[in-house]
Amino acid sequence: MSKVFVLDHPLIQHKLTRIRDKNTGTKEFRELVDEVAMLMAFEITRDLPVTEVETETPVTTAKTKELSGKKIGLIPILRAGLGMVDGVRKLIPAAKVGHVGLYRDPETLKPVEYYIKLPSDISERELIVIDPMLATGGSANDAIHSLKKRGAKHVKLMCLIAAPEGVEVIKEEHPDVDIYLAAIDEKLDENGYIVPGLGDAGDRLFGTK
Ligand code: PRP
Ligand code: URA
Repeated sequence: MSKVFVLDHPLIQHKLTRIRDKNTGTKEFRELVDEVAMLMAFEITRDLPVTEVETETPVTTAKTKELSGKKIGLIPILRAGLGMVDGVRKLIPAAKVGHVGLYRDPETLKPVEYYIKLPSDISERELIVIDPMLATGGSANDAIHSLKKRGAKHVKLMCLIAAPEGVEVIKEEHPDVDIYLAAIDEKLDENGYIVPGLGDAGDRLFGTK
């Protein structure tokens, strides 16, 4: 069964409030999304394995810890997922990045895949699928199926805001995938937008409309 983590750290929640505010402009929106992604990455990587090593400090030899080399892959869903990648990479600079291009058909709300480019060794990597919005869940669900079809074995999903409907879809379709969120909102509106949400994440990140 998927575990759902809502990262209610005060810094994340404060920044998320600013992100939601309709008066926050593109520049600040982008910066805040980047910062929240970095803060979330701290929690998402909490279970990475470490090994003990010996380190010569200027004072003595000490037993210390380092990451035991589990390889990570970041998979932003285009286009809004791009807004969170750099924040995560600040903490995991060695992660490889694959891209899944999906857009949601405005009539049917079904995702349409238009691009995919992944690291060759995804089956050996711990993958973090990144998208600010988990609304109907269609896009994240398709992206994860696409990754699994190509050999992915370990997948986590990271979003800023989810609707309960989207969370249920991922739990049902991918019980092996844990979900990391900054908030679970109330519902979807008739156009499939998250309420209260933040509006259209891609448009707000890139200044389009
Ligand atoms: C948004 C968002 C997700 C998707 C979520 O992308 O970034 O990918 O909608 O909705 P869902 O859970 O109902 O599938 P959008 O299709 O607007 O494309 P964009 O990122 O290119 O703007
Ligand atoms: N995609 C968005 O960008 N925002 C929503 O509220 C739902 C889907």
